[in-house]
Amino acid sequence: MSRIAYVNGRYVAHRDARIHIEDRGYQFADGAYEVIWLSGGRLVDGQWHLERLARSLGELEIALPAGSRALGFIAAETARRNGVADGIVYLQATRGTARRDHPFPARAPRPSLVMTSRRAAAPAAATTEAGVGVLSMADFRWDRCDIKAIALVGNVLAKQRARESGAYEAWLVDRDGMVAEGGSTNAWIVTASGGLVTRAPDERILAGITRRRLIELARGAGIPVEERAFSLEEAKAAREAFITSTTCFVLPVSRIDDTVLGNGRAGGVSLELRRLYDQFVAGAL
Ligand SMILES: Cc1ncc(COP(=O)(O)O)c(C=O)c1O
Repeated sequence: MSRIAYVNGRYVAHRDARIHIEDRGYQFADGAYEVIWLSGGRLVDGQWHLERLARSLGELEIALPAGSRALGFIAAETARRNGVADGIVYLQATRGTARRDHPFPARAPRPSLVMTSRRAAAPAAATTEAGVGVLSMADFRWDRCDIKAIALVGNVLAKQRARESGAYEAWLVDRDGMVAEGGSTNAWIVTASGGLVTRAPDERILAGITRRRLIELARGAGIPVEERAFSLEEAKAAREAFITSTTCFVLPVSRIDDTVLGNGRAGGVSLELRRLYDQFVAGAL
């Protein structure tokens, strides 16, 4: 089956999908995006993702390219036309095409809207059970990480540095020595008493949808969750750590820089949370 993309009102062959070279997304990274998980053709927490997109675009003063219901419909239809039942939909909206000039165009162009979809699977059991390494580094990104902007070059460089060091993810540390988040994930630790800690939403982190869902699932299962910042030192001394995102679900961390956590493999609480999240995605919770 050949791939299909949605571009500004039309479903076109993926290889022929085009956006104008003066689209402000291309020139200024002037736009926002979402990645939504699909399970059995259903958008997982689709409403929360679309609400976050509306918030991101609102912060950037970009008009929503379509209403929430229409966006949800196009996302599901893009997946269906690609034959994707389990995987992701990528959705990107920009301020649109205009003559290149930094300030907003005097007459607002029509926002551009692109969606694509492809099959994907959550990290395999072997990867999850082994856990992954993270590399800490100073957070050198801008000060509005709460906006899911397409301007990801800081995250790209952070993740590339991590990968070159043999780690899976970068942990970005703020000026106060507190862990902000990963390059494309939220960061969590498990305390000695088995409670969870993850940073409260602020302008240094993206308020992850997986993070929000997992807080609900954990509390529902009687696992306490504290929303507060934690330092890199606290993380290195923690019983367990893990990261969350739409595509990595709940992924245990077994090493932070040169510090091995626990027995160097996934911890029991992290694995239990992954099971809970799997059940939720499958629709069983
Ligand atoms: C910087 C950053 N933080 C956190 C996340 C996790 O967000 P979500 O759970 O909504 O995928 C992402 C996801 O792409 C991200 O890019």
